[in-house]
Amino acid sequence: MQHPSHDTSSSGPRVTIVVARARGGVIGAGNALPWHLPEDLRHFRATTLGRAIVMGRKTFESIGKALPGRRTIVVSRDPAWSHPGCESATTLRDAIALAAQPGPDPAIATDEVFVVGGAELYREAIGLAQRAIVTEIELDVAGDAHFPEFDPAQWRALSRSTHLAQNGLHFEIVDYRRRAPSPDAAG
Ligand SMILES: NC(=O)c1ccc[n+]([C@@H]2O[C@H](COP(=O)([O-])OP(=O)(O)OC[C@H]3O[C@@H](n4cnc5c(N)ncnc54)[C@H](OP(=O)(O)O)[C@@H]3O)[C@@H](O)[C@H]2O)c1
Repeated sequence: MQHPSHDTSSSGPRVTIVVARARGGVIGAGNALPWHLPEDLRHFRATTLGRAIVMGRKTFESIGKALPGRRTIVVSRDPAWSHPGCESATTLRDAIALAAQPGPDPAIATDEVFVVGGAELYREAIGLAQRAIVTEIELDVAGDAHFPEFDPAQWRALSRSTHLAQNGLHFEIVDYRRRAPSPDAAG
């Protein structure tokens, strides 16, 4: 049997991407977020509290600490990478497998794992994810980190809410689910 290009098998936790992106897919500049949007940070916190979050080592460096109330799993090719309060894995798949097992805090859910960036990790996670919670920011901004190609034909928006930030930025929060694969016409 051929391996599907998107591994969305039901074994293991549901893989959910959480990302905020500006127009053109910009998600970062100089290893930081190129906007100030506290409303989206609150949404991120509410979405991920009590959950396992998986992030690339560079995103972790930009945050600098494990996020309270969450299980932080950092992906680095360096097997010696460590930081207090974090777990680590050398591949994204290992990080997801780790999230499926109870960690140090038994209150953290194991049925869904949130991949929270950055660009390199999203590029791999987009093929594994069944869900993507995307903050679409109506902003043109320069950046050096981009969200990968997001084929709208493969995803449907389950819900969409529109927001106006205090600083005047408009943004939407869209909860995308991967569409079921269409039946093979060749039978
Ligand atoms: N807007 C958003 O929602 C959002 C969210 C998160 C981050 N960001 C932004 O994204 C930017 C960072 O993204 P980035 O692409 O530069 O870095 P990144 O994906 O955060 O981290 C890259 C590092 O993670 C490790 N890594 C990534 N993929 C791996 C894999 N498949 N296997 C093993 N290790 C892997 C490697 O660490 P080692 O080098 O240690 O091996 C790699 O150097 C920043 O600007 C940040 O602010 C934006």
